Amino acid sequence: MIKAAVIGLGGMGRGHFNVYKRLMQEGYPVELVAVCDIDETRFGEKSTDTNLDEFKKNNDFNFYDFHTYTSVDEMLEKEDLDVVSVATPTYEHYSVTCKCLKAGVNVLCEKPMANNLEHCRIMIETAKNTGKKLMIGQCLRFQDDYRYIKECIDKGTFGKVFGAFFYRGGGPVTRMWFRNHTIGGGATFDQHIHDVDMVQHLFGMPKAVQSSGASAMEGSGYDWISTNYIYDDNMMVNTQNRWIDYGFGFESGFRVTFEKASIVKDENGFRVFNKDGDITPELEKDSPYYNEIKALCDAVINDTPVPVENTPESVMETIRLTLAEIESCDNNGAVVEL
Ligand SMILES: NC(=O)c1ccc[n+]([C@@H]2O[C@H](COP(=O)([O-])OP(=O)(O)OC[C@H]3O[C@@H](n4cnc5c(N)ncnc54)[C@H](O)[C@@H]3O)[C@@H](O)[C@H]2O)c1
Repeated sequence: MIKAAVIGLGGMGRGHFNVYKRLMQEGYPVELVAVCDIDETRFGEKSTDTNLDEFKKNNDFNFYDFHTYTSVDEMLEKEDLDVVSVATPTYEHYSVTCKCLKAGVNVLCEKPMANNLEHCRIMIETAKNTGKKLMIGQCLRFQDDYRYIKECIDKGTFGKVFGAFFYRGGGPVTRMWFRNHTIGGGATFDQHIHDVDMVQHLFGMPKAVQSSGASAMEGSGYDWISTNYIYDDNMMVNTQNRWIDYGFGFESGFRVTFEKASIVKDENGFRVFNKDGDITPELEKDSPYYNEIKALCDAVINDTPVPVENTPESVMETIRLTLAEIESCDNNGAVVEL
């Protein structure tokens, strides 16, 4: 039986908490023993303010059933942990993750990995030096529809990819750390990063990017960003992200166009079309958060490396790509080589 804890009890930490509880109910050999948040009022909050539908279902969080800590150091000193989920705000990912790895605990750190490449590098080095596992919660790598796209690309199911478009957006974000460009990275780092991650995970690193960005809220960086990813074989890949649309909840979608079929996700759901019409397969649906947490726990229990499709080195490339997009925006849409 491995022992787990969750650090940071905002919307996302509560999501991780739900997953550990589900794994325990299913008889999986993990025991959630502790939770930690610097703000002790969070232990008494029964509900969640997340915009993620799957996490809204539980509005009866009983954190006092577990050991509660307001300090990561104290928790690491008193508990004998095997795995922690780090769901603190982004600007704390690097320091909290390194602290846990150095204390001999395997870490699942939420996305974005860190605010800069130097912190990513140190996180990876710390994992190597301590011999502990580090996984980053780029959860779309564990989501059925994106996994299906990856499988079709890898197997060549529908021939060559002509191009792809990814969209992500929603209403204006009110919480300050999210929209603070310096500490939270704004829409680009916090939300767009999911699609950036999919672009480089599915198609590899482009040779250059060209991005346009617009800012609508003071201090938030680019609230609206549109990017063309430049590949050698003229594959047309672009993304658009914004979080400034009043009247809309969170939305995301894509269209990936292959020689012989198109894979689409929009307001009508996930579908696949070829020349004969709708050929949508039944996908094995489960929560990507459940899949990723279980993947790390499996690796810890079996003493195997973290899944090859989600190494921290590969996620650091997503940070590098995102920073290149910001550099392009800063330079009025100049092409930035990678
Ligand atoms: N994968 C996804 O789909 C997804 C979705 C939402 C958020 N996230 C990520 O999850 C992270 C958390 O987001 P959130 O919405 O839950 O934020 P939040 O601000 O709602 O919650 C963060 C919590 O961490 C606590 N905290 C801060 N510093 C701490 C520390 N040093 N030790 C212990 N607790 C600390 C805060 O008191 C707060 O309760 C962010 O990095 C965010 O980008 C990922």
